[in-house]
Amino acid sequence: MKLWSGRFTRESDRLTEDFNASIAFDSRMYSQDIAGSIAHASMLAKQGIISDADKELIIKGLQEIKTELEAGQLEFTVEAEDVHMNIETFLIRKIGEVGKKLHTARSRNDQVALDVRLYLRDEIDEIRELLIKLQETLLSLAADHLETIMPGYTHLQKAQPINLAHHLLAYFEMLGRDLERLDDCRKRLNYMPLGSGALAGTGFNLDRDFVREQLGFTHITRNSLDAVSDRDFAIEFCSFASIMMMHLSRFSEELILWSTEEFSFVEMDDAFSTGSSIMPQKKNPDLAELVRGKTGRVYGDLMTLLTLMKSLPLAYNKDMQEDKEALFDALDTVKKSLIVFAPMLQTARFRKEKMAVAALGGFTNATDLADYLVNKGLAFRDAHEVVGRAVLFCIENKKVLEELPLEKFQEFSPLVESDVFTYLDVPACVARRRVPGGPAPETVAKALVEAQDNLRRMKDVSR
Ligand code: ARG
Repeated sequence: MKLWSGRFTRESDRLTEDFNASIAFDSRMYSQDIAGSIAHASMLAKQGIISDADKELIIKGLQEIKTELEAGQLEFTVEAEDVHMNIETFLIRKIGEVGKKLHTARSRNDQVALDVRLYLRDEIDEIRELLIKLQETLLSLAADHLETIMPGYTHLQKAQPINLAHHLLAYFEMLGRDLERLDDCRKRLNYMPLGSGALAGTGFNLDRDFVREQLGFTHITRNSLDAVSDRDFAIEFCSFASIMMMHLSRFSEELILWSTEEFSFVEMDDAFSTGSSIMPQKKNPDLAELVRGKTGRVYGDLMTLLTLMKSLPLAYNKDMQEDKEALFDALDTVKKSLIVFAPMLQTARFRKEKMAVAALGGFTNATDLADYLVNKGLAFRDAHEVVGRAVLFCIENKKVLEELPLEKFQEFSPLVESDVFTYLDVPACVARRRVPGGPAPETVAKALVEAQDNLRRMKDVSR
């Protein structure tokens, strides 16, 4: 019998049951649902709405249900529709009449709002750890590559020399913003909705703050209509997730590109690569490709939620049951991606020699020659013109700038002296860029220490 059968004269069609049920995907919130029910029952007893004896029986029943579920001794049914009514049905079956009192002053609308928040909060805490682990991996790699010279690119054309540590710390910054976004999302999620009822609260004298405290929320929601119809927190999570995946995807793209024969900047470890079923020679960076690919599905999850919510009148609408699969998919995808990314990166072999050689070609020190002329008194725009002509000459004569004899340099500008050669030395070009935020090894070393301090601080944030 349905928990809501009173008003009905005929049973649901089996098609209705199947179409309506969410148990296939919301069962994963069973432990949050039980925790919420235990807090609710405790509060009902504290307020004298149910007796202490009833409360004890309900809580004991719920705890046993949890144990039995985890031991695989209970089976969810489609007839009971969703996780909330499945558990309530188990409870009534287990403890009888008293079980029917649990749902006093509560609706599935505030119950599901609570469960999703609790579930997402637990997952956010896990994701936070994974994100920090990836950041630590970046920092340890950066420490190894302060002197690893490589070309920096714009338009995917060689631009100016940098070092690998600087490049890695760029990703550290991106993930740092992601971490802040995640924490921010958690802050706004951390409001306790029980007591909002179906939409209009309840006439029972509830102690919402007691429930809030029991469940570790920082606040109670302030408006019953908003509380049951708000899924902003899920959308915010998916926004965080989309941006973070976009970062991982860009990183993946670079690792894929860098593992090509043409670049040869990196070799992914065998343990984190795969082969081809036909081409015996192949070693493919599949994991990075999959992270790049999965980014699209997380964007899809965000779009699902935004579209789902855009025309819903207040308050709860059944459409909102559709929030879970998208949210859970985003959660699972983000977790899987982070779990694989850190060891994939940690075990990658960066090929310093190849990077260094690549930094020597492509006139990555051309800006430095212009800067040299500025230091000798030329206006930058004129220096730019002079160096442009020198580069053109080099291209036509298959040379790099530092190979030109002094007399040749002086044809382009009489300001050039013999110190130009040390000035154009590629590692020297990197070392000179000591501006805060720049790639000079000593500057990056300082940035690394700051990054380590910041991450330590972020790690210590107590909840
Ligand atoms: N399974 C539902 C969901 O996920 C629970 C809330 C149902 N409320 C209702 N009035 N039908 O949204």
